[in-house]
Amino acid sequence: MFDEAAESGTRQVDAQLAAGTYWRAAVLIEAVKSAVSPGDRILDYGCGAGRISLLMARAGFAVTGVEPSNALLRKANEQNCSGLRLRFHRVAPGRTDGLVPSCCDAILCSSLIEFVPDASDLLRQFHELLSPRGKLFISFANRLSLWRRYAEWRFGDVAPHFRLQRNIWLERDAWRVLSDAGFTKVASTKYFESPFDKYPLLSAMNRFACVGTLGLITAQRAD
Ligand SMILES: C[S@@+](CC[C@H](N)C(=O)[O-])C[C@H]1O[C@@H](n2cnc3c(N)ncnc32)[C@H](O)[C@@H]1O
Repeated sequence: MFDEAAESGTRQVDAQLAAGTYWRAAVLIEAVKSAVSPGDRILDYGCGAGRISLLMARAGFAVTGVEPSNALLRKANEQNCSGLRLRFHRVAPGRTDGLVPSCCDAILCSSLIEFVPDASDLLRQFHELLSPRGKLFISFANRLSLWRRYAEWRFGDVAPHFRLQRNIWLERDAWRVLSDAGFTKVASTKYFESPFDKYPLLSAMNRFACVGTLGLITAQRAD
């Protein structure tokens, strides 16, 4: 599915970037900047077309984006990365083979864990890849979000990603898996992304767990 949607999905994100309304990137990059030092190495796991990777590299981080979809990886590599510490390469789904232990100071895993059959296994791999006290920024599909429930009821038949989502979590579900994999909490969960994004006065509502369709957890490798 991600291969087939590569063109249209990337066009949509690029339009948001051009209009200054790519709110997902704004939320993620603010979280990263608040907890990671400039120049640190960030792994963007499941980077898609690499737009957020590029923005993080422009913010001064050394970024590696990895992605299983060849079509999305092509899109990522078409970007102008000159002068930036930014590279992309392929990984097998749910795997981090080829990446070495302690290779990064932070991992961003955005809008991905919901699609992964064995989330615990992937989080244990992340633990290995992080340097001591390295940070993990991970978003999860928020089971409490009323917008999410409405969208699944209304568009579930036509939007294929709903069929592929296996892990729709409450914050405590996410923490059960994260704790087992050796992570501790760094910051409160931040809820974000909903149709309210389009309306400046309403977008503040996203921060309520019953609204934002995604939850963002900032965790740290416990050593
Ligand atoms: C909704 S997109 C999110 C892309 C990007 N991280 C973002 O936040 O915009 C989901 C991404 O996860 C990747 N993905 C899906 N299942 C995966 C798996 N099992 N292992 C690694 N990546 C996966 C897809 O190829 C796609 O790039």
